[in-house]
Amino acid sequence: MTTTQAYSPGLEGVIAGETELSHVNPDLNSLVYRGYDIRDLANHESFEGVSYLMLHGKLPNKVQLEEFTRTLVKERDIPTDIIDMYRSLPKNSNPMDLLRAGTAMLPFYDPEVGDNSHDANVRKATRLIAKFPALITAGYRISQGKDPVAHDPDMTHAQNFLYTLHGEHPDEYAANVFSQTLICYVDHGYNASTFAGRVTTSTLSDMHSGIVSAIGTLKGPLHGGANEEAMKMMLEIGSVDKAEAWVLDALATKKKIMGFGHRAYKTGDPRAILLIENGKEVCSRLGHPEWDEMGRIVIDTMNREKGILPNVDFPTAYIYYVLGLPIEIYTPIFALARVAGWAAHIIEQHDGNRLIRPKAIYKGAGYQEYTPVDRR
Ligand SMILES: CC(C)(COP(=O)(O)OP(=O)(O)OC[C@H]1O[C@@H](n2cnc3c(N)ncnc32)[C@H](O)[C@@H]1OP(=O)(O)O)[C@@H](O)C(=O)NCCC(=O)NCCS
Repeated sequence: MTTTQAYSPGLEGVIAGETELSHVNPDLNSLVYRGYDIRDLANHESFEGVSYLMLHGKLPNKVQLEEFTRTLVKERDIPTDIIDMYRSLPKNSNPMDLLRAGTAMLPFYDPEVGDNSHDANVRKATRLIAKFPALITAGYRISQGKDPVAHDPDMTHAQNFLYTLHGEHPDEYAANVFSQTLICYVDHGYNASTFAGRVTTSTLSDMHSGIVSAIGTLKGPLHGGANEEAMKMMLEIGSVDKAEAWVLDALATKKKIMGFGHRAYKTGDPRAILLIENGKEVCSRLGHPEWDEMGRIVIDTMNREKGILPNVDFPTAYIYYVLGLPIEIYTPIFALARVAGWAAHIIEQHDGNRLIRPKAIYKGAGYQEYTPVDRR
């Protein structure tokens, strides 16, 4: 049987649902969360404020922000059973595997796990956002043979992540830059991990299951894993004077340059534009202008040779490196931010649910006569 219905490999260009959460507008090079431009949010809002916007539908006033922040702080700790589980795992485990395993244990301790009502989902989402720093930093530290660091209730979400990762009070400027990158990562329409989370919860499975699906989907190098690969590439290039030749050689041998290209934006990712601009100052203030210089040569060469522009994962790669963050946790950091978007999408999915169940074109064999096993 053949089908005449439209088919688009990778679902490119296919409209798979509706959302009020974020809008990617490639024609205007813009990304908005609930109508707010990403540049305004990244330059002026806290990660807590943007999370509130995603979950509650509007930016918080001062009192609402204080209350939401207090709840996030109160919910930061993770069950000691998760810490024990992390200790039982092999050293140097993949941090995304650790995050997925830790998240998969949370429902056993969440009193509202099976309640998919709007209010319960918002409360669960808040708890998930609050616990992601501990899930990531405790898992990572234990896998490196270190003890977890207890959170500091006086720190913001971004500061506290850096503190519980390194065990040292973070520099205020570094924490602000870090927070800005988190805001850029919060949401991005029906990206692969968000879509995976929506598919999972469209069966009326619970929020935690949706978040676990999303983490697994984010792990791949064509999605969240690209920021780690981009930094490995920069390190392989090694110095500013080798950058152009390295890219030309990579293109000649048909290598994909990580942190470049995008399914939606073909003329520039607004998050990349913002972070490349801000990254210049970060690199120079923190004493490493060479990464910004190398980045610009890679960008110019890619643009000249292929007309392909950087996506958000390119500047975050060298910004995180300059901030002293270990490369293997760049993708968990993406998840640290995106969990707010995933959770908001799951709430939206449950609030107006319809099972997501597309069709496929059958390309297998035609009718075959069945033969019992002893006659094959
Ligand atoms: C993001 C990505 C998967 C989008 O892919 P897509 O919309 O399916 O685009 P395609 O992979 O079909 O690419 C179209 C063309 O551009 C080329 N291209 C796309 N991204 C490229 C890259 N990063 N480096 C080199 N060439 C690239 C492809 O090779 C292809 O060339 P061809 O037509 O000669 O075969 C792709 O650009 C990519 O793999 N980028 C690297 C990974 C990455 O940074 N991911 C993070 C996304 S936020």
